[in-house]
Amino acid sequence: MAGRQLQTMVCWLLFLVMIHAKFPTSSSAASLKVGFYRWTCPDAEAIVKEAVVQAAAQDPGVAAGLIRMHFHDCFVRGCDASVLLDPTPETRVEKQSGANFPSLQGFEVIDEAKAILEYSCPCTVSCADILAFAARDASCVAGGIEYQVPAGRRDGTVSRESEIPGNLPPPFFTADKLVEIFAKKGLSADDMVTLAGAHSIGVSHCSSFSDRLYGFNATHPQDPSMDPAFADYLKARCPPPGVHGAADSTVPMDVATPGRLNNQYYRNLEKKRGLLTSDQTDLLWRCGWEYTLS
Ligand code: HEM
Ligand SMILES: *[C@@H]1O[C@H](CO)[C@@H](O)[C@H](O)[C@H]1NC(C)=O
Repeated sequence: MAGRQLQTMVCWLLFLVMIHAKFPTSSSAASLKVGFYRWTCPDAEAIVKEAVVQAAAQDPGVAAGLIRMHFHDCFVRGCDASVLLDPTPETRVEKQSGANFPSLQGFEVIDEAKAILEYSCPCTVSCADILAFAARDASCVAGGIEYQVPAGRRDGTVSRESEIPGNLPPPFFTADKLVEIFAKKGLSADDMVTLAGAHSIGVSHCSSFSDRLYGFNATHPQDPSMDPAFADYLKARCPPPGVHGAADSTVPMDVATPGRLNNQYYRNLEKKRGLLTSDQTDLLWRCGWEYTLS
């Protein structure tokens, strides 16, 4: 493996680890530790890994889903598994928000791991830790990235759909807004550029970017910051909004190497082939370039 590629992966790793440390819930970051379940549930991490590896073998798309799920959990109320909570008749919850439904996937993998863990070690391993482990294992499956996950998160009991705006960035955000929302979580612009590299795998619904193809502004129906050939490719897969089936279609976030977690995402940006407005921001383009050297 080229040195640069390795470096990119190491950066990734560091920031994924950072995301864990940055979002303590009831426990402080300092109390999270690697091997947290060593005495109470020694097989905890192996059980999660097995669930992720098996699920990804059936459906490679779940790896992307699990990485995104951890991000969406951590940015709302900290990494407390609030993204997993089901609604009650009185409350609409995070998973019902348009940011998560119907696009967030991989819930059944977490359920499976939790079920086995409750059988092996009842009431011991938090869902928030399972999510953190699963995102790590997904990064390994999809990108060969390995890192240790400090654990000891406790699960929250509150989840509110109304807390999504202001905490999760929508796809039409530009650089300033992205930096602002990451800053609220204690993450720098640099961290944001690195973490956005997760868009090297997985898919997006057409609705998340179709304004760039069909309704950009009064003078330009199509976003001029998108490579026209790439726009044609996308239009062939994404019917105009309102046309039957338009909402359900998905395309790979990284058309070049869709299933691999690698630095191709940043190369795409150089070629104006970022999928979302938030991807094709100047900041990402300028600061991501060094990840593409190899
Ligand atoms: C920088 C701000 C970000 C924005 C605006 C954003 C927005 C989005 C959107 C709109 C989608 C497509 C959803 C759909 O329509 O199906 C998506 C997918 C995805 N995002 Fe992000 N995202 C951001 C950062 C991140 C971060 C930090 C991570 C993880 C470290 C991440 C991981 C993913 C993954 C893996 C997918 C593909 C999911 C799948 O295939 O199931 N994103 N993101
Ligand atoms: C549409 O966007 C282009 C490119 O960003 C810009 O040059 C143009 O002034 C915009 N037109 C309107 C009406 O906002």
